[in-house]
Amino acid sequence: MADKNPFPGENNTGHIWDDNLRELSNPPPRWWMIAFWASIIWFIVYGFIYPMYPIGHESTKGFTGWTQIKEFQEGVDEVEAVRAEFETKIAAMTADQILADEGLSAYTIASAKVLFGDNCAACHGSGGQGGPSFPVLADDEWIYGGAIGTIEQTIAMGRKGVMTAHGKILSADEIESLAQSVMEGDPATNPLFLQKGCIACHGMDGKGLQALGAANLTDSVWRFAEADQLASVKYTIAHGVNDSTDPQTREAEMPAFGDRLSKDDIKKLAVFVYKLGGGQ
Ligand code: HEC
Ligand code: HEC
Repeated sequence: MADKNPFPGENNTGHIWDDNLRELSNPPPRWWMIAFWASIIWFIVYGFIYPMYPIGHESTKGFTGWTQIKEFQEGVDEVEAVRAEFETKIAAMTADQILADEGLSAYTIASAKVLFGDNCAACHGSGGQGGPSFPVLADDEWIYGGAIGTIEQTIAMGRKGVMTAHGKILSADEIESLAQSVMEGDPATNPLFLQKGCIACHGMDGKGLQALGAANLTDSVWRFAEADQLASVKYTIAHGVNDSTDPQTREAEMPAFGDRLSKDDIKKLAVFVYKLGGGQ
């Protein structure tokens, strides 16, 4: 550092390095100072409005009493208020009446989508597309019937269609013959269909009795769809469905939801499923 300031009159601090590198003492620009003070004032005022200064384990509450939880709760209350209007209506209406009201149907379907995902999708697929032994809900073919009341009953009470295993009653030729007729979609013309008692559940015409959940055998919509459909039909005839006397029987049980879901939730799901398949 030089003894004498070799650069007088330029407002330097007297700190000089490498002969001519000087530190100047100029004030910061005015806009910068304004912003600086404004931010300090902002900080203090903010601290009075919102919770901020720590006192022990707590903090000052601020004039407005604002908290994150309160703001969240207000948001929840707002949503609940909008929903309450719909929910009250749904509770007071039948599924039929809900279907007749377009706005309410739309709300019901949106709300049931979550219920369906949580309770039904594991078996019926997320869009009701079904699976190897779980029926498709997104079509117009129904085992038990697509009337809104029937769907509601299916969900509340569950279903377990029973077809007796015929492996011990019928010869291999008879099973082959019946299976061929089913594949052709015209089982009723096969005399065995009447003789062997298939009509008791599938009806004289082979279209199935919905009250028993006996599949329609004339529409080529397969309840148990497999790559080799003829083999699948033969298997069903031989081993039946839910026949406890045959260890190889097909298992197909729709669980009851009456004790797991509220009445309103079941109503909503019925509307949802009805709309998936376009009803009956
Ligand atoms: C554990 C698997 C499983 C779950 C979970 C399940 N289902 Fe089912 N569902 C079935 C089976 C299997 C059948 C066919 C029963 C039969 O063939 O007798 C069925 C049948 C149905 C039917 C009758 C279809 C027709 O064609 O008549 C409806 C409607 C239905 N389910 C709706 C639902 C809804 C809504 C839920 C959710 C609340 C649900 N299911 C949950 C397995 C399930
Ligand atoms: C006791 C009633 C009952 C009798 C008798 C009966 N079925 Fe069934 N059958 C059913 C039911 C119920 C189902 C559907 C089960 C389900 O979906 O869970 C079914 C399903 C079927 C299926 C499967 C269809 C598909 O889409 O995959 C075939 C094939 C079939 N039956 C053929 C016959 C033939 C042939 C006879 C006569 C030898 C017969 N059934 C006798 C009740 C019966």
